[in-house]
Amino acid sequence: MTLQHEAFDTESLVPGYHEPVLPTGEPDEATIAASEARTRHWSRKDQGKRIKYGSDEHKQMMCRMFEETFNPYRPSVLKWPTLDEAALHRITSLPIWDIAVQTEGKARLRMAAYARTITDPEMRNALAQNAWEENRHKEVLSKMVQHYNIPLVPEPAYEYPKDPEWAYLVTGYSECIDSFFAFGLFKVAHDSGLFPAELIDTFEPVMQEECRHILLFANWVAWHRANLNIFQRIAFEWKVFRVWCFLGMERMDLAKSLDAEGNEHQQDNNFTVNGAQSVTEQDLSVAELMACCLRENDRRFAGYDQRLLRPTTMPFMVKCALPVLKFFERRKKAK
Ligand SMILES: [Fe+2]
Ligand SMILES: [Fe+2]
Repeated sequence: MTLQHEAFDTESLVPGYHEPVLPTGEPDEATIAASEARTRHWSRKDQGKRIKYGSDEHKQMMCRMFEETFNPYRPSVLKWPTLDEAALHRITSLPIWDIAVQTEGKARLRMAAYARTITDPEMRNALAQNAWEENRHKEVLSKMVQHYNIPLVPEPAYEYPKDPEWAYLVTGYSECIDSFFAFGLFKVAHDSGLFPAELIDTFEPVMQEECRHILLFANWVAWHRANLNIFQRIAFEWKVFRVWCFLGMERMDLAKSLDAEGNEHQQDNNFTVNGAQSVTEQDLSVAELMACCLRENDRRFAGYDQRLLRPTTMPFMVKCALPVLKFFERRKKAK
C-alpha cells in the first residue's frame, strides 16, 4: 500500500483510536503556560512504590503519562514572526527541511502501522496517538515552510511497511538518537540570539513532544521484551541488533534526493551532530556541544516519574566519549 503525502488519517488506520478534540480559537497566555507545565511534568502519586517492568501496572503507567501530558496546540494558530533578511536566510538555508518533513511523514505511518498490529487496546491507543502527533509535527513544518517560502524537493509517496515492527523499531531508535542531539542544538540555537524568540517558542512544544515519544518508546521496548517467550525474545534481540546496524550505516551515509528538475541534493543525516555552526556564531567545540546535549537531555526528562525508564544508549555513549573528546581538544589547544 502506498500513501500519498496528503492522505493520512490515524483514525482510519488504527481501529478503536479517536483523535483528540482540540480547543478552537486562539489560546490565551495562561492556557498556554498551563499546557506547557502539564506536558513537562507527570508523576504517579504513589511515589516510592516499586513497579515491575513489563507488568500491567507498568503499561498503564506509561500510557497514562502519555495521555495526561498531551499538549493540545493547533498548528493552524501558531504564529510565524516576521524575520529580518539575515534570519530568513539562516533558516531557509539550513539543510534539514526536506529530511525533517519526510522523517515525520515516515514516522506517522510507521507508528500507525505498528499500532494497528497491537492487540492491547491501551498500548494501541498510545502508539496511535504518537502517530497522530507525528502528523501534527509534519503540519507544523508544512505551515512554516509555506510561510517562509522554503524550497522543498517533491515529497515521495510513503510506503506502508512490510514489517511494521521493524519499521517501528527503526523509527523509535532513530528518534532516540536524533532527539538527543536536537535537544542540545535547540538550546544552542536558543542561546545564540540568532533566531527570534517567537520562533524558538513555536518549536518548543515539538521538542518536548519528542522527549515524551522517546520516553514512551523506551518503556514500550522494556514492556514488550518482558512479555516475550524465550524464542520470541531471541528473534526480537536479533532484530534490535540489526536495527542499530541499519541506523549506523544510514548515519554514515549522506542521503541524496532529487528536486523537480532532477538535480541531486544532498541531505545531511548527521545534521544533528555537525550542525552547531549553522545555529550559533559561538565557536563551540564538539565536547561542549555534547555536554550541552547531556544537560538538556537530563533537563527535559527531569519532570517525569523517575520509575519510567529513559532512553540510555545515546547518553551512555556520549558520557563515555566525552573525556576522550576533551583530552584531544586540550591537546589541540596546547599545540
Ligand atoms: Fe516528530
Ligand atoms: Fe516523535
